[in-house]
Amino acid sequence: MMDQNRAKDRVGIGLLGCGTMGGEIAAAVASQAVGNAGIVAVFDEYIDGATRLAGTLQPAPVVCPTMAELLAIPDVSLVVECASPAVIEAHGATILAAGRSLLTLSSGALADTALFDRLTALAAENRCDIVVPSGALGGIDAIRSVQRLLTEVTLTSTKPPVAFSGSPGFAAWEGVEIAEPVVLYEGPARDAVKLFPANVNVAATLSLAGIGPDRTMVRVVADPASPGNVHEIEARGEFGEFTFRMVNRPHVRNPRTSHLAVLSAIETLRSYCERGPRIGT
Ligand SMILES: NC(=O)c1ccc[n+]([C@@H]2O[C@H](COP(=O)([O-])OP(=O)(O)OC[C@H]3O[C@@H](n4cnc5c(N)ncnc54)[C@H](O)[C@@H]3O)[C@@H](O)[C@H]2O)c1
Repeated sequence: MMDQNRAKDRVGIGLLGCGTMGGEIAAAVASQAVGNAGIVAVFDEYIDGATRLAGTLQPAPVVCPTMAELLAIPDVSLVVECASPAVIEAHGATILAAGRSLLTLSSGALADTALFDRLTALAAENRCDIVVPSGALGGIDAIRSVQRLLTEVTLTSTKPPVAFSGSPGFAAWEGVEIAEPVVLYEGPARDAVKLFPANVNVAATLSLAGIGPDRTMVRVVADPASPGNVHEIEARGEFGEFTFRMVNRPHVRNPRTSHLAVLSAIETLRSYCERGPRIGT
C-alpha cells in the first residue's frame, strides 16, 4: 500500500513556451507519463500557439495572455520553461520571487553568472527549486560527480547548417552554400550561448555541472554531412578521462532541438513530480 505521508502533492504546471518542447511535454503530462502533475496554465508570446495547444489538453488549461496572469494562478507551483534564454532573463526572477519553482530548458541564460547567482539566491529565499534537465547531453551526472577534480572540459557541437539559421553566430553564413564542415565558433561557453542561443544551451548546462562558462571550451561546427545533432564531450582531470558522444536525431518539427532533449525534459519532470527510486542522479 502506498505510504500517504510520502505522496507528493500534485504538481500544477504553468507552461511557458508552447512550441516543439512545450507541445511534447504537455502531451506527456496529459498521457499520464509524468504521473502526479497537470498542466494548469499556458503562456506563449504567440497566443494562437498557446490556444491551439490548450485545445488539445483535457482538462483544458487556462491560456494566459501574460506571465503575470499565469503567476496569479495559485495552483501553478512549477513553471516549465521551453521558450528561449531571453525569457529566463525577463521572467526568471519574477517566477522565483513569486515562490514558484522553475524547470528550464533554456539553460544558456544561466551562463550569465550574475543572473545565475541572483536566481539561486531567490530560489533559496522563497524555498523553491531551479531544475535544469541534462537536455541533449549525456554524462552530466559524471561531470557533476568529478566537478572538483576537472582540469579540462571541451564540447564539440556539430549540426547540419540549417540548424544554425537565424543565430547571430551564423549571420555571415546565411544563404551561403556550405559543402564542407565549417567551424563557426571556438572559445568559451559564455560567448557560445550568446552567438547560438537556440543551439548550445548544452554548453551552459555542461558549464554549470563542471568548471563554469569561462573554462568550458566549445567548438560549434556546421557540417552538411552530419549524421544528426552531434554533441561530444571530452573531460580530463585527476579522476581520469571521459569521452561522451551523442548522435541525436533532430526533432521532426525543429531541427535545432534534439529528440533526446525532449525526452530528457519529460524524464526530469517525471522524476521531479513523482516519489520513487532515483537512478543515476
Ligand atoms: N537544454 C537543451 O539541451 C535544449 C535542447 C533543445 C532546445 N532547448 C531550448 O529549449 C527552448 C524551447 O525549444 P523548442 O524546440 O520548443 O523551441 P520552439 O521554437 O519550437 O518553441 C519555442 C516557443 O517559445 C515561444 N517563445 C519564444 N520567445 C518567447 C517569449 N519571449 N515569451 C513567450 N513565449 C516565447 C515561441 O513563440 C515558441 O512557441 C529553446 O530555448 C531551446 O533553445 C534546450
